[in-house]
Amino acid sequence: MSHRDDSSPFPGRARARALANVALVKYFGKRDAALNLPAAGSLSIALEPLETVTAVEFSEDLEADVVVLGGASAPEAFAARVRRFLDLVGELAGRRRYARVETINSFPTGAGLASSSSGFAALALAATSALGIDLDGLALSALARRGSGSAARSVPGGLALWQAGTAADGSDSFARRLVEPGDWDLRLVVGVADPGPKEVGSTEGMEHVRRTSPYYDGWVRTASADLEAAVRAVAARDLERLGEITEDNALAMHAAALAARPAVAYLSGPTIEGLRVARRLRAAGIGAWFTCDAGPQPKLLCSSADEPAVARSLGDVSGVQEVLRCRLGGGAGLVSVSGKPS
Ligand code: DP6
Repeated sequence: MSHRDDSSPFPGRARARALANVALVKYFGKRDAALNLPAAGSLSIALEPLETVTAVEFSEDLEADVVVLGGASAPEAFAARVRRFLDLVGELAGRRRYARVETINSFPTGAGLASSSSGFAALALAATSALGIDLDGLALSALARRGSGSAARSVPGGLALWQAGTAADGSDSFARRLVEPGDWDLRLVVGVADPGPKEVGSTEGMEHVRRTSPYYDGWVRTASADLEAAVRAVAARDLERLGEITEDNALAMHAAALAARPAVAYLSGPTIEGLRVARRLRAAGIGAWFTCDAGPQPKLLCSSADEPAVARSLGDVSGVQEVLRCRLGGGAGLVSVSGKPS
C-alpha cells in the first residue's frame, strides 16, 4: 500500500462499482466487533447484475460530508456509517477531508437485499482512488471489511473466500477470488418477499446471537467445517455438494439465530416455502439449493440450465413479489477517476 504525502496532487474524485454478494457459507459472528473480524471464514457468490455505483468527491469547500443515497439525502444511520468509513480513509491518507458521496443501487431498495456488501466495496475503491491511495486487492478488501464485513467479499467478486485471519489488527482478514465469473455458470435466484415488520440488522443480530444463543459455539464450529468442505466442492466444481453445504449452512445459521434469547427470526412464510420449493425441485431432478440471510428473501442456488424452472417455481410462492435472476459476477472496478473514464 502506498501513501501520498499531503502536498501530492490527488485526483479528488472517483466513481466505482461493485456487485452485491450472497454468502454460501455465512459470516455470522465476530471475534472483534470494532474491526469486523469474523469468528470464521465465509464463501460468497457475487451477483450480476445487483450493483452499487458510488461517486466520491473530496473538496476543500465542504464543511461536512454530504451523503446521497438513490438521489436523496441518506438516512442518518447510513450517513453515519459512511462518515466513519471516511475517517478510516482519512487515517490512510494522513488527513481527513470532507467528501460528497453519491451512491445508487441498481436493485430494488427495501427489497431486503444486503446493499452494504456492494456499497462499502464501491466506497472503499472510489474513496481511496479519489485520494490517490493505491491499495492492492487484498488490502482494499481488508479496508472494505471495516465498513461492512461482507463488503470484503465484494472487492474480489466471483466466488470469494474471506479468510478469518489470525492477526489482531485484521491485516490478514480479507477475501480473494476462488472462481472467475466465466469459469462456472452458477446462478442464484432471489425471491423478493415482503419484508414485513422491520428486521434486526445483521450487525446487531449477529452480536445478539453471539451473546445469547446456546448454539453459537456450535454454529461457529459448523461454519468452519462447512467452509473447508465448500472449498473442496468448489475446486471439484461439484454444484450438488456445494448446494448441500449452502443449504445446511444457512439453516444452521438460522437455527443459532432462532435459539437466541429473545429469538432473532429472519425467516417468514415465503422463506420457508422457498426452502420447500428447493426440496420439491430436487425430488423432481432439478438442482436447487436454498439459502437466506438477515431478511425473509428465499434465495436458490442452481445451474444456468435449471434457472428457468427454478425462477418459475420461486415466482409462484405466495408472498414472493418479484424474482431476481442473478449470475456469478466479477469484482469491484473503477468507472472513472476525476471525471475521466479509467
Ligand atoms: C447474514 O456484513 O452486513 O448476510 O459486518 O456488521 O456490517 P457487518 O455485517 P454484514 O453481515 C452479513 C451477514 C449475512 C451473512 C453473510 O453475508 O455472510
